[in-house]
Amino acid sequence: MLERMNDSHGPMTQWALSHLQFNKGDRVLDIGCGGGACLARLSTIVENGSFVGIDYAKTSVEATQQFNQALIDAGKLEVFEASVSDMPFKDGEFDKIVTVESYYFWPDFETDMQEVYRVLKSGGHFLLIAEVYDHEGLPQSVLDNIKAYDMRNLNLDGFVNVFEKTGFADIAIHVKSGKRWIAVEGVKA
Ligand SMILES: C[S@@+](CC[C@H](N)C(=O)[O-])C[C@H]1O[C@@H](n2cnc3c(N)ncnc32)[C@H](O)[C@@H]1O
Repeated sequence: MLERMNDSHGPMTQWALSHLQFNKGDRVLDIGCGGGACLARLSTIVENGSFVGIDYAKTSVEATQQFNQALIDAGKLEVFEASVSDMPFKDGEFDKIVTVESYYFWPDFETDMQEVYRVLKSGGHFLLIAEVYDHEGLPQSVLDNIKAYDMRNLNLDGFVNVFEKTGFADIAIHVKSGKRWIAVEGVKA
């Protein structure tokens, strides 16, 4: 399944990351890194970057390590088994933080967002990427899946509310026309 997600999430991840302005040497965190393809993609975009992945599933950590062994060997990537709720990082450690198709499952979105904010540098950007968000016309099959897997499914106002409450400024919502993809961006004040 992790291999399948590496492929199937590729086009959305590529689209979403195009909204971020990376700088040379950025330190970038991917929360819920799954099979590791987003980290591999980031390493091709960010010049001289350093990369960190976390996932609370051991299988995902191992898959990410396997997929990115060359980056690990080169000292450019570290992967940790950890939950977004309690990340093993210093305050303000990251220039950019991304998360792809993961927030649906976070235990407590509001407090988990505070943890994301904590480890982001002042002036750093957070980008939340999802294949589905709550809006008119979601097919019944998608609604059934959301219910079956007990997934969080915010609408546009819901995202803005939580990002604002967390303290993010310059909140921007990018929606891909013809798809259900959404990328919500915020900057740490
Ligand atoms: C649908 S997969 C997406 C994986 C990858 N980001 C991708 O786009 O292919 C969701 C991932 O989020 C991870 N995850 C879920 N809840 C988490 C949490 N509380 N902390 C860290 N990772 C979490 C899961 O273990 C899983 O690897």
